[in-house]
Amino acid sequence: MARITAGITTSHIPAVGAALDNGKADEAYWQPVFAGYEFARTYERDTKPDVVILVYNDHASAFDMTFIPTFAIGCADSFPIADEGWGPRPVPEVQGHADLAWHIAQSCILDEFDMTIINAMAVDHGLTVPMSLMFGQVDAWPVKVVPIAVNVVTYPPPSGNRCWLLGEAIARAVASYPEDLNVQIWGTGGMSHQLQGPRAGLINKAWDTAFLDKLTADPEALRHMPHIDYLREAGSEGIELVMWLIMRGALGPKVRELHRHYHVPASNTAVGHIVLEPLP
Ligand code: DHB
Ligand code: FE
Repeated sequence: MARITAGITTSHIPAVGAALDNGKADEAYWQPVFAGYEFARTYERDTKPDVVILVYNDHASAFDMTFIPTFAIGCADSFPIADEGWGPRPVPEVQGHADLAWHIAQSCILDEFDMTIINAMAVDHGLTVPMSLMFGQVDAWPVKVVPIAVNVVTYPPPSGNRCWLLGEAIARAVASYPEDLNVQIWGTGGMSHQLQGPRAGLINKAWDTAFLDKLTADPEALRHMPHIDYLREAGSEGIELVMWLIMRGALGPKVRELHRHYHVPASNTAVGHIVLEPLP
């Protein structure tokens, strides 16, 4: 039987990917950003997940205003790297797990979560930067990936509670997959940031820290937090944090926090990263 063994969250700042790709990771500005991921890199090497269910958002790379799926699942065998304006990042193509993805799609849809099934999709920094942070610069990614793309770009994004409930449905789907697979679920994006308008550059450390605390110990308090709280407190792009609740919903009520990293500055965004394991 497949089992979810860990939940990981991380920001997906594109400049972090560019720093790695351009050999700048050891520079004084970036070194403390990457240092906070050493724990997770060792953890991934030690625990060797087979598959990562990677909850992320597309930034008008694969989707645009012509179609806007709220929840999409990538069911392809592989996902090419998107060109976001500077050519595709020099990272390996992402390998899917089509059979598990179709199983999750079937299970969730029959469980009344109407996912959009995607059979061809390029993946952008929302997916590739978390991969680079966890696995470094490699010739081939050491895991297969089931991408779950969430709309947090065009209003209205899904509610935090809807994300939580989808996470629970994904956990049921994984638990009913017959093959013995070590599966992780990642929630990506965030933390506080706003990229445009008069409040561009907004960072809210106190609010982010409280979010991390509650994510581990009191997630019920986050489930029903309205969108306006994310926007007001964490900036317009802080709404990416609803995606973390899909991860958290999938882990069940009690978790153990193995590692936490919070760092400012990194581009325009507060870096937030946490490693959780579900408790029985
Ligand atoms: C930045 C952060 C993001 O989440 C994003 O999608 C693009 C840019 C930034 O910090 O610059
Ligand atoms: Fe983003």
